[in-house]
Amino acid sequence: MNDFQEYLHAKRTVDDRALNRRVLARLRVELPDAPRTVEAGAGIGTGITRLLDWGVLPEGVEYTAIDNRSENAAVAREHLLDAGFSQEDDRLVRDDTTVSLVAGDAFEVLSDGEYDLLVAQAFLDLVELDDALPALFEALSPGGLAYFPITFDGETVFEPAHPLDDRVLGAYHRDMDREGSSETGRKLLAAVPKAGGELLAAGSSDWVVYPPYSGDERVFLDHILDTVEGALADELGEGLQEWLAARRRQLRDDELVYIAHQLDVLARV
Ligand SMILES: C[S@@+](CC[C@H](N)C(=O)[O-])C[C@H]1O[C@@H](n2cnc3c(N)ncnc32)[C@H](O)[C@@H]1O
Repeated sequence: MNDFQEYLHAKRTVDDRALNRRVLARLRVELPDAPRTVEAGAGIGTGITRLLDWGVLPEGVEYTAIDNRSENAAVAREHLLDAGFSQEDDRLVRDDTTVSLVAGDAFEVLSDGEYDLLVAQAFLDLVELDDALPALFEALSPGGLAYFPITFDGETVFEPAHPLDDRVLGAYHRDMDREGSSETGRKLLAAVPKAGGELLAAGSSDWVVYPPYSGDERVFLDHILDTVEGALADELGEGLQEWLAARRRQLRDDELVYIAHQLDVLARV
């Protein structure tokens, strides 16, 4: 696995804790039998097995998982084989559930009106919301459901407090605003009705990571710090290096706490 895939693998347990159970319960209630499902930005496929294993998606589902990094499909395939799927032609099959892994740009691959459920986890904050949302809604049949879990919403906290936190985290959020928006979660609540959808449920799904770190969560935090470094290296210079050194020391010494505020949103078109 490359670094990004290791990060996606390590964040599974963080997402498991964070996902809003009330929004998930509403999704379970609203889903039709055997919903034709598509996921945009599916990463290494961890969302597929979670929704099946947690009994949110019924067995018998046809699931299309799209990601524009083609190398993610290979890791997703391994993940599904480990989870008891077997390869049949170009699909992965477990009992009567089938998964198709598609490498490509979700906005090009999706076709109109084909799906009962669209999932996009930790995705909308990476794209231009006002363009993306109507395009994603078009993939749904009338009455179809859109589920947007782990949508970043503008608050990052590291503890213990550091004098440079405001400067570093302000610049970090401004960097996110270059391609998507660091406040996508709250903006989504108005964007859904504007794009012709009905909000069915919304709630917080904050990442809360603290020592002693479980699973691979030290790897997860290490990647988050690398991401801050990658985003701000040119901008903050020595101040950033001082902040990073303190945070990496705290991570090594089992002292670092990280919280990211996010929203889960369920809508119907
Ligand atoms: C933050 S990751 C989240 C992955 C996964 N949903 C999860 O929560 O583990 C975002 C994913 O979206 C993919 N992505 C970004 N833009 C995309 C696009 N236009 N079409 C398809 N995938 C895209 C990236 O390759 C990446 O795997």
